[in-house]
Amino acid sequence: SMHRELQALLATADKAEAEVRKLKDFDGFKKLFHRFLQVKGPAVDWAKINRPPEDSIQPYDRIKSKGLPDDIAACLNKLAVVKLNGGLGTSMGCKGPKSLISVRNENTFLDLTVQQIEHLNKAFKADVPLVLMNSFNTDEDTKKILQKYKHHKVKIHTFNQSRYPRINKESLLPIATNIGMAGDNAEAWYPPGHGDVYASFQNSGLLDKLIGEGKEYIFVSNIDNLGATVDLFILNHLMSQPADKRCEFIMEVTDKTRADVKGGTLIQYENHLRLLEIAQVPKAHVDEFKSVTKFKIFNTNNLWISLPAMKRLQQKNSMDLEIIVNPKTLDGGLNVIQLETAVGAAIKSFDNALGVNVPRSRFLPVKTSSDLLLVMSNLYSLDAGSLTMSRMREFPTTPHVKLGSSFTKVQQFLARFESIPDMLELDHLTVSGDVTFGKNVSLKGTVIIIANHGDRIDIPAGAMLENKIVSGNLRI
Ligand code: UTP
Repeated sequence: SMHRELQALLATADKAEAEVRKLKDFDGFKKLFHRFLQVKGPAVDWAKINRPPEDSIQPYDRIKSKGLPDDIAACLNKLAVVKLNGGLGTSMGCKGPKSLISVRNENTFLDLTVQQIEHLNKAFKADVPLVLMNSFNTDEDTKKILQKYKHHKVKIHTFNQSRYPRINKESLLPIATNIGMAGDNAEAWYPPGHGDVYASFQNSGLLDKLIGEGKEYIFVSNIDNLGATVDLFILNHLMSQPADKRCEFIMEVTDKTRADVKGGTLIQYENHLRLLEIAQVPKAHVDEFKSVTKFKIFNTNNLWISLPAMKRLQQKNSMDLEIIVNPKTLDGGLNVIQLETAVGAAIKSFDNALGVNVPRSRFLPVKTSSDLLLVMSNLYSLDAGSLTMSRMREFPTTPHVKLGSSFTKVQQFLARFESIPDMLELDHLTVSGDVTFGKNVSLKGTVIIIANHGDRIDIPAGAMLENKIVSGNLRI
C-alpha cells in the first residue's frame, strides 16, 4: 500500500506540474497577444535600415585564423548543444516529428545529431550534452525513441516549448474552448515558433540547471540543418574574449544565392545589429529585400548564445522579439492566425553580438524531397554523423534539383528510385510528372525529365543521362 500511496502522490504531482505549465503558457500567451494588439504600423521603418558596420559581420576565416582552444575539452565542457525539435514532418508528407525521418543510410536527423556529439565527446574526452526543445506535437514520439541512445556517450535533456491558442482571424478570439488539452480540438493550439526557446528553457528549469553545471554557452540550430555541427574555431573565439567584452551572441550567416531570397538578413537598426525577416518587410520593399546585392547574407539559424546573458535578459523581461503573424486555414476552412517569434530576433538584445559569415557547408537544411535526394546521394559522404561534400566532385557547389509534386511525400519519393542516381557531375535536374529511376542511373550536366499528364517515364537501370531532355513519349 506504500507503493500505491506513492503512485497516487506522484500522479498528483504530475497533474500539479501540468497545471503550472498551463498557467505559465497562458501567461506567455497573454504577454504576446497584448504586444500584438499594441503594435501599430509596420515593424520596421525602412528609412532607418542601414548596412551593418564593417566589423559586425566577420568572415569565418578571420575567426579560424585564431586557431583552436588550448584546452579543447575544457571549452567543450562549457557548451551544450540545443536542437530545435518542435516541428513536424508534414511538408514532406510524414506524420510525427521531422527529426525522425530517415535521411541517410537509415539514420534519422536525430541519429545523426547524436552521432556527431558522441563523436565529439569521445574524441576530446568531453561532456557536451544534447538538449532537445520539443513541442506538444513532438514530445511523446521523440521520448520513445530516446530510449535507444541510453548507452551512448551523450547526455540528452528535453524540455517542452509553450503551447498557445490559435486566434480567429476575424474576431481575434482564441478558437480553443478550454484551457486544458483533453477533449479539446488539437487544431486549436500551436507551438509559437523557435523564439519561444528563451522563455521555455527558463521555465523548464533547465537553464538554471545547466548554468549550475558550469555551462556558459549553448549552440542552437534547426534539427533539419545537417551542416550545423559544433565548430571548435567559433567556440574558441567565444571562450577567449576578455570578460568585459564578452560576445554574448553569434549568428552564423552565409552568402545569399538566388535560391535563398526568403531568409532573414542582418541590418543595423537604431545602433544595434538586428534580424530582418521577410514578414517584417513592407510590401513596397520586398524585391529590394530579396536582392542579393543589397542584402548579401542570410541567417542560417546556427546561433551561439551566452547562458548567463540569456538568464539576465529573461529576468529583466527585456527580449521584445518581433511578432511574426502567421495566417493559416484550418481543415474546416476557418481562417486563423498564430503569433510566433524567431530565436534569431533576440540578437538585438545581447551585448557585443556578432555575425560570422560561415561557409555554405554549415547550412545544409532538408526542407523538401529535392534536398533529400542531394543528401542521400554520392555527392556527400557520411563520417561520424557529419555529411561532407565528396572530394570526387570537381566544383564544390550543389546541383540545383527540382523534383515535381509526385515526389513531395517521402514515401512516394523513395518508391520512385530503385537506387539513388550517381550525381557527382550533375549541375541541374528537373523532374516533373510520373517518373521512376532504375538501379544505377547516372545524371550529368543538365537533365530535364518531363512526363506529361497520363504518361509515365521509367529511366532504365544503368542509364547515363548527360545534358538530356526526356519528355513525352521520347525514348532515350
Ligand atoms: P521551420 O522548419 O519551421 O523553419 O523550423 P524554416 O521555415 O526553415 O525556417 P526558420 O528557421 O523558422 O526561418 C526550423 C526549426 O525550428 C524548429 C523546427 O523543428 C526546425 O528544426 N521549430 C520551429 C521549433 O522547434 N518550434 C517551433 O515552434 C517552430
